[in-house]
Amino acid sequence: MSSTAPVAGRLSIGGTWLPARADFESTSPADVSEVIGRFPNATPQEVAQAVDAARTAFPGWRRTSRIHRAECFDRLARIIDRETDNLARLMARECGKNVTECRAEVVEGLHMVQYVFGTGRMPVGEILASEIAEKDAYMRRKPWGVVAVITPWNFPFAVPLWMLGPSLLEGNTCVFKPSEDTPAIGQRMMELFVEAGFPAGTVNLLHGDGTVGEVLVKDRGVNVVGFTGSYEVGKRIQLLSAELPDRIVAAEMGSKSAVIVCEDARFDLAVNAGIISAFKTTGQRCVSAGRVIVHESLIDKYSHAFTETARRLRFGDPLDPSNFAGPVIHKGSVEKVLGYNALAKEEGATVLLDGGEVQPVSGTKGCYLSPFVYRQEHKPGLRSIREEVFGPHLALIPFRTDEDAARIYNDTEYGLSMAVITEDYRKMRYFRDECEYGMGYVNLPCIGAEVHLPFGGVKKSGNGHPSAAGLVEAVTHKTAWTVNHATEIKMAQGLTTAIEGGPA
Ligand code: UN1
Repeated sequence: MSSTAPVAGRLSIGGTWLPARADFESTSPADVSEVIGRFPNATPQEVAQAVDAARTAFPGWRRTSRIHRAECFDRLARIIDRETDNLARLMARECGKNVTECRAEVVEGLHMVQYVFGTGRMPVGEILASEIAEKDAYMRRKPWGVVAVITPWNFPFAVPLWMLGPSLLEGNTCVFKPSEDTPAIGQRMMELFVEAGFPAGTVNLLHGDGTVGEVLVKDRGVNVVGFTGSYEVGKRIQLLSAELPDRIVAAEMGSKSAVIVCEDARFDLAVNAGIISAFKTTGQRCVSAGRVIVHESLIDKYSHAFTETARRLRFGDPLDPSNFAGPVIHKGSVEKVLGYNALAKEEGATVLLDGGEVQPVSGTKGCYLSPFVYRQEHKPGLRSIREEVFGPHLALIPFRTDEDAARIYNDTEYGLSMAVITEDYRKMRYFRDECEYGMGYVNLPCIGAEVHLPFGGVKKSGNGHPSAAGLVEAVTHKTAWTVNHATEIKMAQGLTTAIEGGPA
């Protein structure tokens, strides 16, 4: 079948596709013997060329009417809509997410593109007052220049569009480096940008691993880095960027997100919210819950219902829509999750469902894990309930008072996403104000953000530059623009303008 022939990986620089090169392979986590494509690892010289191409394209793109820039996104939206099923299937094969989740992700990317098109005709600044009646004052946004977009494998379509969309609409140009685990979907997206008619050099594609990302981040021609991935890499990007005077880094990093189930919770909704938060995408969303914090009066009943539901979930072929979720991304991830399962046991967990490696069907080689569910009292210093696992590994933690629940929730170095399940408006407000997070949900899972909301976190989860609709703040800088309509100068603050003897 031609659609499953390995992709010939190429870089795209300044509107030109470079010849294919096969430095590394992308394989399917559902069957690691299936090669999705072979890709070049960009050389330092190619990275520099991509940044130069973006810099060269910047002035022309910046001067293009904002509405014409936006119209490129209207064309892109139509193409994505046409390609939805093909994109979902390619994504399912390459990153192992179930095809139904992949479809939802393509739709999320489409929504971002539609949002960007829509905002093309929206205000681009503010009109402000002046102390001086004859002065008009404005806040106007200006693009920074070149944005490096470095994105993860778990949302290989929507997350790049959260960054490429606002960056390009505002007049920046981009160098896009998709994850080395999902280069095929990244390259397909680049093809769609070309088809939509984005001018040469406005989007450039690099492939490769962290060494390529490092060269890109060190390039002084890059003004802004949009990054989603681990805290360690995000920290490295911020350290390298501190060398540059006005480098902006918008970083979304790890999490240990949680659902808090109060005593008055609707029980079935609470179980459903916990399961979806913990195990959709096989626990590999950055917002996935690693903890469900449950009122002590409910913990036995909740643990039973949660565990029995988790036991029934089917983790299998990503292309079969009847499966709940798929494999984890690679063998390294299998080892990491198994390591945390063992650590939880060492730390005294009461194991309720002993997940582990699962053999995939018919002799194929896949990275399948079943859910690991345990009960753990909250104690200082336990690593398994504080560190990010990024897999199907879930702690059920009892609490006594709302103050305990907020303290337990906050007792990690992360602060990305939280959900509270309650019918009590006072409790909702308490957790809204006392918990540290970027995305908060009531009577919902702690996953499932929409693109027109800011997406970001605090502490080790993010540095206050949210992505998606929120990214406009990072990819533009605000300028004050003041115009005098009088024929003489009048200054604010009562500053005098008289010059003895007058101007010469
Ligand atoms: C991620 O977890 O890496 O909020 C992105 C959500 C999705 C995006 C997740 N809209 O679950």
